[in-house]
Amino acid sequence: MKALVLSGGAGTRLRPITHTSAKQLVPVANKAVLFYGLESIAAAGITDVGVVVGDTAEEIREAVGDGSKFGLDITYIPQERPLGLAHAVLIARDYLGEDDFVMYLGDNFIVGGITDLVEEFRRTRPAAQILLTHVSDPRAFGVAELGPSGQVIGLEEKPERPKSDLALVGVYLFTPVIHEAVRAVRPSWRGELEITHAIQHLIDAEAEVRSTVIGGYWKDTGNVADMLEVNRTVLEGVERRIDGEVDAGSETVGRVVVEEGARVVNSRVVGPVVIGSGTEVRDSYVGPFTSIAENCRIVDSEVEFSILLRDSSIEGVGRIEHSLIGRHVRVTTAPSVPSAHRLVLGDHSKVQIHT
Ligand code: DAU
Repeated sequence: MKALVLSGGAGTRLRPITHTSAKQLVPVANKAVLFYGLESIAAAGITDVGVVVGDTAEEIREAVGDGSKFGLDITYIPQERPLGLAHAVLIARDYLGEDDFVMYLGDNFIVGGITDLVEEFRRTRPAAQILLTHVSDPRAFGVAELGPSGQVIGLEEKPERPKSDLALVGVYLFTPVIHEAVRAVRPSWRGELEITHAIQHLIDAEAEVRSTVIGGYWKDTGNVADMLEVNRTVLEGVERRIDGEVDAGSETVGRVVVEEGARVVNSRVVGPVVIGSGTEVRDSYVGPFTSIAENCRIVDSEVEFSILLRDSSIEGVGRIEHSLIGRHVRVTTAPSVPSAHRLVLGDHSKVQIHT
């Protein structure tokens, strides 16, 4: 069995972060979302992984390499444009050959892994197996309609009037019959070849499509609120570890990770929090559910429920909450006169100013 991991696409809802970097590489508790998926695949006993890459191919390759650090053997499959999930399967045809495979969307986050699911699929081998979960607004997802005995009777992609609250989770298991189905679908209203339609094609052909409703935690990390929420969930599970330096004037409370090479000076850190190596927290407060990546500086400020990517700094600005801050960002005080905000913001930035 192989895996096909989708790591192309545009990431419009995470702009401006995704103007310059891949959405699958945005860190959760200082580790790329994509890495959690690759680790689950390795844990399920799969080693051959095709990674579909688009415009951000170089960055993904640099982060993931040949896969050996995950115990995986990775082959990159370039996709010229994000033409849809079924298109990704089409272009991976030669790589996948006659093997069964798990397709994993690189921006999806599933707690609990996929090992049981892969084992069940290996045992039962339906044409396809999908994962579903109850969501509050199904219109943002693929949505399944189940029959009286729980069988999948219909699937729709982002319907205006969903027939259920069961969303398709971004992990799918397929036998090679999916290849014929992806060849049969036509572009949807959004111009993509939808995997949802390919699976519907299997249902129409009376192939067996099984579904499992997962109760565990799942998020599509496509937007900032979901990213912060996933970060919160992962941080809840971290163990306290102080490998860096915490001076006598500082206090760290609860599940706090201070990586080697990080420094906490005259500050209060209330977990769960992770602080990456090379980062300095000085005269500041860092509150729960905050991930600060490597080589950042937090000086004379307060940060809570936020994600900071590497090489950024926050100095003298009071309190920051519910924020996602990219790489090499500077947040500083302005001179007191004139009383004005000075902004240099990239395209699609969002700023909320307290007046
Ligand atoms: O997250 C679950 C949802 O994922 C499902 O409920 C939907 O049925 C399914 O269509 C998909 O919807 P999204 O609109 O959220 O998919 P998105 O465009 O975000 O793409 C998912 C991942 O696949 C993302 O990591 C980017 C990558 N991708 C996407 C496309 C369209 C590719 O690598 N190539 C592509 O052509």
